[in-house]
Amino acid sequence: LSRLVIVSNRVALPREATARAGGLAVALREALKERGGLWFGWSGDITPDTEPAPPRMRRSGGITYATMDINAADHQHFYADFANGVLWPLFHHQLNKSDFHRNAYDGYRRVNRAFARQLAALLQPDDLVWVHDYHFIPLAAELRRLGVRNRIGFFLHIPFPAAELLTTLPVHRELASDLCHYDLIGFQTEDDVRALLRYMIDEDAGRIDPAGYIESPGRMTRIAAFPIGIDAERFSGTARKAAEGEENRRLRDSLAGRALVIGTDRLDYSKGIVQRLQAFRALLDTWPEHRSQVTLLQVAPVSRGELRQYRSLRREIEALAGKINGQFSEFDWTPVRYLNKALSRETLAGFFRVSRAALITPVRDGMNLVAKEFVAAQDPEDPGVLVLSRFAGAARELTDALIVNPYDVDEMAAALHRALAMPRDERIARWETMNRVVASNTITVWHESFVRELARPRAASGKRIDVPRVTGAPPTQV
Ligand code: F6P
Repeated sequence: LSRLVIVSNRVALPREATARAGGLAVALREALKERGGLWFGWSGDITPDTEPAPPRMRRSGGITYATMDINAADHQHFYADFANGVLWPLFHHQLNKSDFHRNAYDGYRRVNRAFARQLAALLQPDDLVWVHDYHFIPLAAELRRLGVRNRIGFFLHIPFPAAELLTTLPVHRELASDLCHYDLIGFQTEDDVRALLRYMIDEDAGRIDPAGYIESPGRMTRIAAFPIGIDAERFSGTARKAAEGEENRRLRDSLAGRALVIGTDRLDYSKGIVQRLQAFRALLDTWPEHRSQVTLLQVAPVSRGELRQYRSLRREIEALAGKINGQFSEFDWTPVRYLNKALSRETLAGFFRVSRAALITPVRDGMNLVAKEFVAAQDPEDPGVLVLSRFAGAARELTDALIVNPYDVDEMAAALHRALAMPRDERIARWETMNRVVASNTITVWHESFVRELARPRAASGKRIDVPRVTGAPPTQV
């Protein structure tokens, strides 16, 4: 069996393994735990050194961790200014927030080059290399320049943008040609697959082979969707246990019989938190019977606080939550409980189980694993209702959620009203359908199918990709 080498910006080091690792880190830990291998990425530390030092190595539980420090200037250009200041907003279709500067791009390439140099020295000839996310699009190209011939795969956890938007990026051609150095590119959904193929056709950036490859000089790159999942059985067990725990008891006591609606996201403009709060206000305005009866718990740990767009979003949300509470609160009821801290996975699992509804309404999201976790956490006899944005990748699979357009505040309010009044039979029927998907397309299925495809010799692969037929997004249901 070839060794698996995973590359990602964030690495969940063993000491952090049980803490509040994000969705990506949790997913990758699951992938490596079963198979063993090497996890290469950023240490999380900033170094004063200007020249990149070799990675720090440590071993734990069958996984070797190799982590690099980054100096302050590189971190600023690579992580803040380009990955999260340009690619993140652009890939989430927030063109007005994407702020391109040549020196940020140069820093992005510099870090990719430095990481490639250090990684190349650790590779064995038949290692399978699996690179994750938009921080490392050029990594394969840089590895190839160093003579690395291993099979290299890339998985994008966030959505791939529409061709018309991608072409606004001054360096779009360079990044597209970087992608052609991978043997396999995985996306969350078929929409993303189509978006890349459409770009390749429109920009004449690579020939599309009928067997489902992009042909470029010297390489055939397979493109496919691998929708990421969760360890549903474990999360469901965690939720069952947590629901009996002390924190859940305190939560229930504090609610005093009122219904709980939950939202939990990194504090990010892609998550649609402002529109969600507006929808909750519209619910209280339009259906006054919910006043004093429903509480929204919005968990929003601060994220990327060094970026201006994130700081101003935080101020906007604080102002809006304060306004809603000022307008509607009673001496014994606060409509919005707004938390800027992360809760542990255990705590969240228990809170999901007692929630009557979840509002998961990103304006654009690769998958959104919280949606799947919410489903897995429910009590089969009395499940809560998932209100889900049509622009989350998860909406492609969880079609029995109440699917909403996050740009339509009134529609979201109506969906929430419907969720709060939904009869138990309907809640159970919807939940059963969604739970079947969540319980079968697990995190193990995800990483095994990606790695199997990456390891597969080219000739034996070859599902036909019918390009650029564009199907509609899921219909809204309210
Ligand atoms: O899933 C998308 C992603 O950007 C990951 O790559 C990342 O680790 C996570 O969100 C959290 O963001 P950040 O690493 O910037 O805190």
